[in-house]
Amino acid sequence: MMTDKFMKVISANAAIIERKLGEKLDLIKADPDYKYFSTLEESMRYSLMAGGKRLRPCLSMEFARLFGGNVDAALDFGCSLEMIHTFSLIHDDMPCMDNDELRRGKPTNHIVYGESTALLAGDALIAHAFETLESQNVSDKQNLEAYKLLARCTGPVGMCAGQQIDLENEGKEIDIKTLETLHAKKTGALIRCACLLGCIASGKISGTQEYSDADEFASCIGLAFQIADDILDVTGDEEKLGKKCGSDEKEEKNTYVTLLGIEKAKELANSLCERAKNIIKKYPESDFLCELADYIIERDN
Ligand code: IPE
Ligand code: IPE
Ligand code: MG
Ligand code: MG
Ligand code: MG
Repeated sequence: MMTDKFMKVISANAAIIERKLGEKLDLIKADPDYKYFSTLEESMRYSLMAGGKRLRPCLSMEFARLFGGNVDAALDFGCSLEMIHTFSLIHDDMPCMDNDELRRGKPTNHIVYGESTALLAGDALIAHAFETLESQNVSDKQNLEAYKLLARCTGPVGMCAGQQIDLENEGKEIDIKTLETLHAKKTGALIRCACLLGCIASGKISGTQEYSDADEFASCIGLAFQIADDILDVTGDEEKLGKKCGSDEKEEKNTYVTLLGIEKAKELANSLCERAKNIIKKYPESDFLCELADYIIERDN
């Protein structure tokens, strides 16, 4: 069970993140022609502000805190990442992909706005994420590193690649190495991005010990996170999850549950979580991130 103190930090961070996301969306309304395309902004807002755990920006903020860096910059970066994450969810739910009708406890974007607007809402979230990523609180070099990292983790060798492997292998048998690559990309890439954006906001750029520790921690929790998601798809409670269970079976997905079974999948998630905690334990003030690693595999939503 997670401590009260931990859950308080999670919800305090989520409140800060949501305020910032709202501000970033408001920039769209300032366009003089807004009235002609307000539906697009509404549909972006519908999914982005629908709740969600806000884990990715939270990871960015907490890594910045761990390394004594600029938490405001990490918040700026992390909120752009949350837009990318939300775009990935909108598209993931569309009929051409997982064909799901419930997300974050609400009807999915395409159910409410139709497929073409949902497609555009996703597209526009990508562009808006990059437009609003820059932080005034860090150097140009740090901003540039953040842009490049977010692009790489999102694109053709990151999350999009993972989604491609996922879709291409529906209904087919794959080996564990392919599944690990699939998960490392479709989910791991954005979680890794979250942690590393926190490093960049702290001036701990690629090549530093902190960066490589965060990278290794992120790879472990990223995989553990998707294993937990696969398990929840089978054993979870729809009310708490805010999305339908059984989606993976319906779409004949390859998951850690289908390849290893629930017990082995749980064991693997546990050992990844232990490995993750061991990597960052040496840093003072790492307690919160260690609890977050536990939360990733113990969560019920
Ligand atoms: C769901 O991510 C999609 C996966 C990568 C498994 P989250 O479980 O973080 O979803 P939200 O943001 O809390 O809705
Ligand atoms: C989705 O994985 C990962 C991305 C959206 C990139 P899933 O398809 O398992 O996520 P859920 O279960 O629909 O949230
Ligand atoms: Mg999917
Ligand atoms: Mg899905
Ligand atoms: Mg899933």
